[in-house]
Amino acid sequence: MLSIRAELAIIGCIMMLPHGFIYFIRFLILKLPKIMTEGKFPILYFSYIGIGIIGFIVMIPLFITSIKKVRRKMQGRSWKRLQRWAYLFYLLAYVHILLILLNESKIDWLRLSTYTMIFVGYMILRIFKYKNKQKIGLRVICNTNN
Ligand code: HEM
Repeated sequence: MLSIRAELAIIGCIMMLPHGFIYFIRFLILKLPKIMTEGKFPILYFSYIGIGIIGFIVMIPLFITSIKKVRRKMQGRSWKRLQRWAYLFYLLAYVHILLILLNESKIDWLRLSTYTMIFVGYMILRIFKYKNKQKIGLRVICNTNN
């Protein structure tokens, strides 16, 4: 999958675009005026919409710089630095979904545990990869010093 991860990221982003646009427009046109007339302040609702919007904004530069033509114009280091924002995006996506599920009148434990397993599983594997890379880096430094 590593060889096509840029393509997968682009497909994922393209699929996210209508989601963000449609729910954002629905929020502005239908939900917000209704909430204002009711005079209530649904914290969980505003939180997951707000987190969704931030996630969506974070996704845009990640999306654009995943396109090979754009990537080629960037320096490797600055591209990598920018792509690190993907971790924030994953976290925001998880919190967005978590709040949506907690906002429902009856919690769907199957969905909640599935999303949690995917997110936590990914996080654990990513930490392992980071630690392994650090170990290899240390070994290389020791070998070049000897
Ligand atoms: C402009 C930004 C966004 C807005 C306004 C928004 C809004 C919403 C709304 C209103 C729902 C439906 C909640 C319900 O069932 O009542 C939803 C569901 C969902 N959103 Fe977003 N969202 C945004 C961005 C994102 C982003 C960046 C992700 C990242 C992957 C995401 C992932 C999801 C998922 C997976 C669901 C379905 C959760 C489930 O019910 O299983 N959204 N979003």
